[in-house]
Amino acid sequence: MWRPVRTSWWRNAVFYQVYVRSFSDSDNDGIGDLPGITSRLDYLESLGVDGVWLTPFYPSPQKDHGYDVADYYGVEPRYGMLDDFDDLIAQAHQRGLKVLIDIVPNHTSDHHPWFEAALSSPDDPHRDLYHFAKGKDGAPPNNWMSAFGGPAWTQAGAAGDWYLHLFAPQQPDLNWRNRAVPAEFHKILKYWLDRGADGFRIDVAVALFKREDLADRPLVPHRITGEPVTAPGFDIIDQAEVHGVYRGWRKLAGEYEPERVLLGEIFDPARQPRYIKPDELHMAFALIDRWWNAALWKSAIDVFRHAVSRGTSLPSWTLSNHDVVRHVTRLGGNGTGRDRAKAAALLLFGLPGQCFVYQGDELGLEEAYVPPERRQDPLVIRTKGANQGRDGCRVPMPWREHEPNAGFSTAPPWLPMPPGWGRSAVDAQARSTTSMLSLYRRLLATRRGLARRLPATMRWAPAPKDCLVYGRGPLTVACNFSRRPQKLELAGRLLLASSPGVTAHGETLKLPPNSAAWLETRRSAGS
Ligand code: GLC
Repeated sequence: MWRPVRTSWWRNAVFYQVYVRSFSDSDNDGIGDLPGITSRLDYLESLGVDGVWLTPFYPSPQKDHGYDVADYYGVEPRYGMLDDFDDLIAQAHQRGLKVLIDIVPNHTSDHHPWFEAALSSPDDPHRDLYHFAKGKDGAPPNNWMSAFGGPAWTQAGAAGDWYLHLFAPQQPDLNWRNRAVPAEFHKILKYWLDRGADGFRIDVAVALFKREDLADRPLVPHRITGEPVTAPGFDIIDQAEVHGVYRGWRKLAGEYEPERVLLGEIFDPARQPRYIKPDELHMAFALIDRWWNAALWKSAIDVFRHAVSRGTSLPSWTLSNHDVVRHVTRLGGNGTGRDRAKAAALLLFGLPGQCFVYQGDELGLEEAYVPPERRQDPLVIRTKGANQGRDGCRVPMPWREHEPNAGFSTAPPWLPMPPGWGRSAVDAQARSTTSMLSLYRRLLATRRGLARRLPATMRWAPAPKDCLVYGRGPLTVACNFSRRPQKLELAGRLLLASSPGVTAHGETLKLPPNSAAWLETRRSAGS
């Protein structure tokens, strides 16, 4: 069949990550939910994003807040019902917003019927859907570690066998070599695509298959600390068989019109080229989490730009997500952190590629202090508090400055809001032209307005030390990382400034410390 050539809808799109539990609470139980999200679609539309990515909303004991799925075909009652999902999709689509959902194929919950059956008897055939193994003299089968701390094995059932969990013990890893597992996930994907999902964010996308020999990790002393660490080149995950699975998923995604999209949770740029291909996944994240330094940011951007081939895909630029410390805090916190976060957004979101905004980034939220006794992340629990965990970036959204619980819920939210949280609320920021929210709105609107004229390439231009400048067609982006004001020889119309002190007169662009600008230029910088 003849099809007109056109750019795929997801290329250069801006996605907004909704951490379902913390976005908006419609039934006032202190926990966000699907109708809450639907009620905020006007907000997302006015922000100027093209789509959302919803974190897992499936029935789940919530031991890892939804990344422990007990039923892949339903909605967690605390988050709503299937009808609420259908309504959310319908209302999002009416506004032209796409909806990506999270798929968790590496592990299930220990409450999934497969795992419950597996534990029911040592002969139960469901055991082969997971990784059960005999221990070695009362110790686990090998020395693999869980990403949340401690051994990756837990002993269970009358036979005293151990099962593998690369994350929490309540998240047993699936055995993808048993054909029933890929068959089931094909069904699950199709089920949600038929319900209207526009694609999937694939949780721990490189981990599905583990090395079959279950060999012990060879240990070598860490270069600096001397602590024993896994020898380079020894991979437990990232096994070749996973590519066959993704080829099947890509075929399925291509059967829909327009094509549905597959986004891998793959941060390591060295691994991305093997997954981001015309017949596998469409895109992966380019998370920039470096110290605020021009040379470091330039090299991080270049590494991701070159990781994927331009004809196939472009990087998905990201500053934060639900697993990392909020970037305002990472960049120095308070006023300095916010100035840098504004500049960082201008620098990153002018680049060719998709953008991912984590909820609250547009408000410049900081990592919140959560008192130790209120922390809920399994990472805190497994490390007995040695790791502070990820709760601080998951504190619910502040919507209204002067309402109880900042308008998120009338009930106390599941994670406590620190004092003054309401000052960052949406309504307060909407009133100010210099707020982070106003800047994000202008940034996304300007990006959208320029979209047709922006090529898929960019070029670095000469810049003073501590500054970065690049050109992309008519757009020139300049960023000052230093603590001193900088004068750059750049002429153009000022489209966007991260701070009120930015000026463009004649041939000179003045950038205060930690600021950035977008200029419209006749000739592309760097060409
Ligand atoms: C991914 C998720 C993270 C979760 C983990 C285990 O990294 O982003 O939140 O804890 O997978 O599912």
